[in-house]
Amino acid sequence: MSIITNLTRMWLTRSFKPFRFRNEYDEVLPYGDCENLGLYVHIPFCKSICNFCPYCKVKYDRETCDRYIDALLREIHMVGSTYPGKKTVTSLYFGGGTPALAADRLEEIIAAMNEYFTITEGIGLELHPDNVKPDVLRKLKDAGVTKISIGIQSFLGKYQSILGRAAVNPEQLREALSQVPFETVSMDFIFALPGQTFEDLKSDVDEAFRIGANHVAIYPFIDFTFTKSPVKAMPKKEKRLLLDSITDYCARKGYKRSTIWTFSSEEQAKYSSMTRDNFLGFGCSATTLLKDRFKINTFSVDAYCERILQETLPTSLTLRFTRRQRMVYYLFWTAYSTEVDPEAFERFFGVPLKKMYGFELKAAQLFGFTKKRGGVHVMTLKGAFYYHYYENFYTLAYIDKMWGIMRKEAFPKEITL
Ligand SMILES: C[S@@+](CC[C@H](N)C(=O)[O-])C[C@H]1O[C@@H](n2cnc3c(N)ncnc32)[C@H](O)[C@@H]1O
Ligand code: SF4
Repeated sequence: MSIITNLTRMWLTRSFKPFRFRNEYDEVLPYGDCENLGLYVHIPFCKSICNFCPYCKVKYDRETCDRYIDALLREIHMVGSTYPGKKTVTSLYFGGGTPALAADRLEEIIAAMNEYFTITEGIGLELHPDNVKPDVLRKLKDAGVTKISIGIQSFLGKYQSILGRAAVNPEQLREALSQVPFETVSMDFIFALPGQTFEDLKSDVDEAFRIGANHVAIYPFIDFTFTKSPVKAMPKKEKRLLLDSITDYCARKGYKRSTIWTFSSEEQAKYSSMTRDNFLGFGCSATTLLKDRFKINTFSVDAYCERILQETLPTSLTLRFTRRQRMVYYLFWTAYSTEVDPEAFERFFGVPLKKMYGFELKAAQLFGFTKKRGGVHVMTLKGAFYYHYYENFYTLAYIDKMWGIMRKEAFPKEITL
């Protein structure tokens, strides 16, 4: 598996040089000249831990959560105060874990962000279905949250029990959501679970839109090597059929495909922290992507708080890009939105996309992976499936390895991918 990702990396970066993440870091992050910059905050607490979940999370307790948020506020001030004046950013996303568990302290976090950043495209936050109650939703809205994302996984009991999650009550969600509206109400589903059919997935999507969602995210199940889940991912052929059928169904219903895995029923409904050229990440495990570097914070809540107490950034590893490596990162994340705009690429790198990747673009068109529309390279249904398929390889070869190490060691010496 990693042979494919290694060969692709060598080909696209035109170099044998691997991605080398080292245990060194900058105290000042040069984000001042970054356009299209997003903000991300990680809140790693959950009421109960799901055995299939790869994210950085620990069991919630009030005292640890408060200590963590105190440290988080200091990290925001440490990073924000290095830039003179206010920096304009696109969005702020809270991911986890379950950030809704920190609803009482959200106002403080957003106020700290507002001291240094002008947020132009709203604030998003993730919730567990248990948090979808009018009083919690009101707190989020009063703090300034405009988009919410709820981790449903499936409305069908059969798949909830495969995943070891409690059944979701759609009527309770519908009632709470009707009382407190948000610009985007997104719901997460996992597909490619054993035995899952198109009818099952379609009923989940229909139910989501019926009870108040205007956006759905349908993630393929990924069997990470370090999780304890007994669930095995579906074979490629079945998975493709399922993805193609649900994409086709969403298109027929008039839902817009906003990224590889997301569909929206209303124009304004958007929920994606990934489709940014640059982003600043705060909290444990959060990543930061800038023009020439990528950094990842420690996964350990205790080590994170300790570093902040010492007034140093909680960075665990830094990758310093070669130009081609940065181009590959750029293209990979931009393609997630199902489109690559050559003009945007040229604005970012100061060189035409065609000059750097003319051959690959031609080949992608020839194989039917992309089509050109108004000068922009747009993924076809086939292209979207293969992107998704390659992303799966990438996740297992790169993210699985990195997260597998980072969850055990707070500050590993080096990771080479
Ligand atoms: C941080 S959780 C969402 C909020 C909340 N913690 C919850 O679970 O309801 C992010 C989402 O990642 C997805 N996810 C988690 N583990 C996954 C896996 N192994 N494969 C695919 N998707 C996964 C789930 O859809 C989940 O809703
Ligand atoms: S899926 Fe959500 S609730 Fe479950 S462990 Fe992961 S972050 Fe926590």
